[in-house]
Amino acid sequence: MAKQKFARGVAVVGAGMSKFGAFPDRTSRDLFVEAFLEMKGTVDKGLDPGQIEAFYLGNFSSDQFEKQAHLAPIVASWVGLSPIPAMRVEDACASGGVALREAALAIASGMYDVVLVGGLEKMTDLPIAEVTEALATAADTQFEIPAGFTFPGFYAAMATAYLDQYDASPQALAHVSIKNHENGALNDKAQFGQRIADIMASKKARAEQKGLPVPEWKDELEFLADPKGNPNIAWPMSLFDCSPVSDGGVAVLLVAEEIAFRYTDSPIYIIGSGQASDGALTDRATLSHIPAAVEAGQQAYQMAGIGPQDIDFAEVHDCFTIAEIMATEDLGFFPRGEGWKAAMSGKTARDGEHPINTSGGLKAKGHPVGASGVGQVVEVWKQLRGVAGERQLPGNPRRGLTHNVGGSGQTCVVHIFERRD
Ligand code: COA
Repeated sequence: MAKQKFARGVAVVGAGMSKFGAFPDRTSRDLFVEAFLEMKGTVDKGLDPGQIEAFYLGNFSSDQFEKQAHLAPIVASWVGLSPIPAMRVEDACASGGVALREAALAIASGMYDVVLVGGLEKMTDLPIAEVTEALATAADTQFEIPAGFTFPGFYAAMATAYLDQYDASPQALAHVSIKNHENGALNDKAQFGQRIADIMASKKARAEQKGLPVPEWKDELEFLADPKGNPNIAWPMSLFDCSPVSDGGVAVLLVAEEIAFRYTDSPIYIIGSGQASDGALTDRATLSHIPAAVEAGQQAYQMAGIGPQDIDFAEVHDCFTIAEIMATEDLGFFPRGEGWKAAMSGKTARDGEHPINTSGGLKAKGHPVGASGVGQVVEVWKQLRGVAGERQLPGNPRRGLTHNVGGSGQTCVVHIFERRD
């Protein structure tokens, strides 16, 4: 692998996001403006938006979800950035991570010093069948979709292969969901601000109110094993194994390393960046891991000159619970076939040896697909600056990693961030 590095350093100096969720009464414009204003407020020494020289927007499919193509210049104008260059980056659910990388590369090339990265998706205005159909256009529509695949179906196939190959317990999937809901409950931006125990309690209360038999789940695992509480979506994926359909906007400000101190005394540096691609799932030799994620991770580690043992925490692409388990192996946090055991034994919890998805992840924080990769950066920014509130990791974490996957693994992008103060 060729040694890849930025020709000059790039730092994050501001980050903000809207709440993620289903917002029938809010427009894309409301969500992005909220994110932009929050980002602006986080720039310690202030930001004059007139200094922003270019805008990269991660968005999967505003054309299908909102009947609005050509989104980036329109969004740029909402926050007063016209006439700077504005471009939409589309790589399915990895759109946001790739937008971040393209923006970083534009700074590293010397072309710009100050670049805004956005992420935006408004998915919930369509009925679920149309959302599923729109998402499916990120797969191979010639062979895979006519065979009946949907995204829950792809990840169900991967889960089946993984569970079989490693003789893994399906309960490991439930542990990922419980942990991510625990984290999401501590994140006021999360779509599901409830622990699974809280969801169980409200379902019991609702049944009681309606005079229906009150379910007797003794704990979260029993609830998640009950198809009445957690219906099957595509075996072995049930409702609580899936990320939700979401609306959300995110904004992150990148600047050239040498001017970062004009904006803050505590920049977060991008020290590793990797990206890889692959064909459709049906063309791959393996279903139990994602080769492009391994490749992107190795590129990022090589550029940073570090390995998985040097990463304090990671936001990984848990579009389905199995995806988180595979990611923890693809990124080298655990050996192959050990990720499911790590999930079950608490090694990925906030107090575990490899904290994963402290934000709640896509599962609980929400997954406005093209925005998710930028949303991951907001969590890394907060954790590294020590402002993650109740979910703040102890011990002043120094390095965080983001892992963003498009489709069933056709695009993977990994970034490593470092605090130096
Ligand atoms: N996890 C947990 N609960 C969920 C949920 C999820 N992912 N999605 C919806 N719910 C809950 C809702 O809060 C609601 O609860 P309530 O009855 O207590 O109010 C209930 O389930 C029904 O919600 P609804 O919005 O009608 O669900 P739905 O059937 O329309 O959608 C899925 C459920 C799983 C089909 C949908 O979330 C989905 O398609 N997810 C995957 C998205 C995807 O593929 N993204 C791209 C990944 S690559």
